[in-house]
Amino acid sequence: MAQPQQRRAQGVVRFHNFLPEGDSFLGDVLKGLARTQKTLPPKYFYDARGCELFERICELPEYYPTRTELAIMREHAGAMAKFLGPDCQLIELGSGSSRKTRILIEQLQPPLYVPIDIAGEALKAAAASLAQLFPWLNIIGVCADYTRPLTLPEFVGVPIRKKAVYFPGSTIGNFTPHEAIEFLQLVRRMVGTGGALLVGVDLKKDKKVLDAAYDDAAGVTAAFNLNLLARINRELGGDFQLRRFCHKAFYDEDKGWIEMHLESLAAQFVHVGGERLRFSQGETIHTEISCKYSVEEFRAVAHRAGFAPGQTWIDAANLFSVHGMIAV
Ligand code: AVJ
Repeated sequence: MAQPQQRRAQGVVRFHNFLPEGDSFLGDVLKGLARTQKTLPPKYFYDARGCELFERICELPEYYPTRTELAIMREHAGAMAKFLGPDCQLIELGSGSSRKTRILIEQLQPPLYVPIDIAGEALKAAAASLAQLFPWLNIIGVCADYTRPLTLPEFVGVPIRKKAVYFPGSTIGNFTPHEAIEFLQLVRRMVGTGGALLVGVDLKKDKKVLDAAYDDAAGVTAAFNLNLLARINRELGGDFQLRRFCHKAFYDEDKGWIEMHLESLAAQFVHVGGERLRFSQGETIHTEISCKYSVEEFRAVAHRAGFAPGQTWIDAANLFSVHGMIAV
C-alpha cells in the first residue's frame, strides 16, 4: 500500500567529536588550583558519575528549576514553536538528556537538531532516544566545549530557514553577567542576523529558597560538588581525601549569584599531576556560580549581545523564565 504523502523520510543520525585530545583537564586543574582563590571550572562536573548526580539534583524537592522549566515548556511549547517559526535548524547548547527539548521538538518539528554537549555518552544516549521518538528527525550530535568558538558541521539536503539556539536549564547562570554578554555574542554569530535564541533563565527570589536549592537535605548537591575531587583522583591520579573537604553553597544577594565552594576542613597537602598543593584550614576551591536575574536584567544582558527581546514565558510563582529573542 502507498504511504501517505506527508510521511517523512527516515532521519539521519551523526556524531562529531570536537573535544581537544589530551590533558586540558590536568592543565585547567593545575591552573585553577594555583590561583590565590583556588578555582575549578564547572564544566568538569559532568563525567558519567557527575551526570548521574546532576539528574538526581533535578529530582530534588528543593531544586525547583528543572521541574518549573519543564512545566513552562509543557504549557508554552506551542507558542515557542510559533515564535521560532518553521524550518528551523535547532541547535542546543549543553543538551544533556535533551528532556526539555522533546517537548519543543514535538511542537517545532525542526528538520535538523544539533545537540552540543561536553558529555559524549549522555549525548549519544539522548540522540538514540530522540531518534526512536522522532524517526523523521535529522540529528547531528556534537561533542564539544561550547564555551569556545566552534564551527558547526554542515548538513546539506534539508531546507533551513533560520538557525535557533536553545539554551535551557539556566546554564547561562554559570557565567557572570559580563561573561554572559560575551558568550551571547558568540551565540549571536552562530545564528546570524534574524536567527533566534530560546534561553532558560533562573529568576531572583528569596535567599532561603535559593540556599536550599543548592544545599539540599539529602546531600546530593554536596556529592555532586565533591565528585569533582573524586574525578581528579580517578582521572589524574590525585590524592584528595574527600572527607577532608565539605560542600559550601550560598546565595550572595549583592552579586545576585549562588557560589559553590569546596572547603578544606584541615591544613593539608594534596598531590595532583606531580604537583604538591597546599590548603589551609577553611580555604576553599570555588567550583561554580549560578547567576540569577530579574526579567529586565536578563533582557539588558541579551540586548548588549545583539538580541532583541521577543517573548518571555514565566511560571505563576515567578521562579523561572524562558526568553525568546531575535538576533538583530
Ligand atoms: C546546570 C548550571 C544550571 O546552576 O543550577 C545545580 C548546576 N549546581 N546544583 C545550576 C547545579 C548545583 C545548575 N546548572
